[in-house]
This record gives sequence, structure tokens and C-alpha cells, in this order.
Amino acid sequence: MSYLKEVKKVTTTGLQSMKMQGEKIAMLTCYDYTMATLLDAAGIDVLLVGDSASNVMAGHETTLPITLDQMIYHAQCVGRGANRAMVLVDMPFGSYQSDSSIALASAIRIMKETGAHAVKLEGGEEVLESISKITKAGIPVMGHLGLTPQSIHQFGSYGIQAKSDVAADKLLKEALMLQEVGCFGLVLEKIPSDLATQVSEKLHIPTIGIGAGAGCDGQVLVLQDMLGMNADFKPKFLRKYADLGNEITRATSSYIQDVKQAKFPSAEESY
Ligand code: KIV
Repeated sequence: MSYLKEVKKVTTTGLQSMKMQGEKIAMLTCYDYTMATLLDAAGIDVLLVGDSASNVMAGHETTLPITLDQMIYHAQCVGRGANRAMVLVDMPFGSYQSDSSIALASAIRIMKETGAHAVKLEGGEEVLESISKITKAGIPVMGHLGLTPQSIHQFGSYGIQAKSDVAADKLLKEALMLQEVGCFGLVLEKIPSDLATQVSEKLHIPTIGIGAGAGCDGQVLVLQDMLGMNADFKPKFLRKYADLGNEITRATSSYIQDVKQAKFPSAEESY
């Protein structure tokens, strides 16, 4: 028998109850083991192994280049560090768009090889068949509408989506379709806050916003952005909770100075 107290893990039904009880859901992206242990210990509800790893971890301009194997590697690292939090993994570009059998095979690989709890994929009407197949296999799926970065070349910019009445109507209809087909939640990215509030009120599944205002049932940010590790990235929706970029530069400069001046290591730091 374990002497450790069992933690109450965050589940899809747990997130649903949070929505019903009006408790907001806190989600952050995470791509590695060390950060996963820290965020989990702080009490984060959901760790999103986002395909933004393509930008943040690999330095690509878009999320398009990251592969399924690379996403699986990041998800395995995060999974080893998560205890209480739900681990949700983005299905990368190319792993689900071509047909629903390929989508199911990709989702199964993620679940089998990483121990993650759920997958997320982008799109509306065009991905319904895939979502239906994946959820029928017992895999929870989170949808993602609004600005869907895997379609950046179609959008042409990372600007706000669904601004016209027609586009807002389409988004609302697609949100309802995603719920109908079995999604347990929905990310709403960069849409007007009135629309996000309306969608959140109409759906019984939780909505998680990024640049979608306070009416969503939860919020998500890219970890490195909210920790202030990317000085040049300052969209209106981003709140920086730390200035780690400057702190890391300061610590690194001190270390370099100490090494150059033979001040590190000291006698106490030596064997
Ligand atoms: O990959 C990602 O970081 C995301 C969030 C922005 C929602 O999908």
C-alpha cells in the first residue's frame, strides 16, 4: 500500500463540473518534464502540450513543421512530470487532416505512447468525421476554433477572427457541432469577447479562451509568453506574470563573469 496520499486528478468530467460550478479552468502550455513538475505542483488544471512547441521549443516561424513523433516526445516528457493535471496533446498539422482513419491512428499513437489523457485538434465542420471516430475509440477530444494557427497561410495573419456577423454565426454553429460530435471542451482563440461569451453560454462543455476575453470557462496562455521569456511578443491579450527573460540573462551574465574571473567554483563548491 502506498503511503502517499492519492491526488484527485483532473479529468474531463472534472472540467465539466468546474464549468457547472462556475470555477474557472487554468491551462498553460508545457513541453518538458521540469516545467511540468513545477506547473503541476502550483496547481494548474490542464497542461497543454501545444504544437506551439514548433515555435517555442524548435524556433520555427509556424506550427506547421512539428511532426507527430516530436509531439509524442514532448508529451512523454510532460507526462512524466504531471501528477494532478490533465495532459492534453495537440495533434500536429498533417496528422489528421487527410482522412479520419489517419486521424484515429494518430490519436491512438499519442494515447498509447505518451500516457496523455486527451487530444486537441483544430477546425470545424471539416474535422467532424475525424472527431467522431476518435471519440468513439474512447479518446477525449478538445476542439479549437477561431484563429487556428495550422491554417495561418490561409488566414494570412494572426489577426482576430470571426469579426463579421456571418463569420460569427459560422463559428457558433461549428462550436455546437463540435459539442454534438463529442468534444469535451473547446479552445477559442483570438475572437471578439462578446462572441466567446455567447458561445460559452450556449455550450454545456467548457470553453478555454486565448485572446477571447473573460467570458470563457477557462484561459490558456503559452507558458514562455506569460513568464516573459519572449520580450518582442506583446499582443494585447497577453499578461506577463514574470520577467524570466531578463532574469535568465542576468543570471547567465553573473555565471559567465564568475567563471571568467575564476570566482566559481569556490572551495566550498569543490570536492
Ligand atoms: O499550441 C498551442 O499553444 C495552442 C494554444 C495557443 C491554445 O494551441
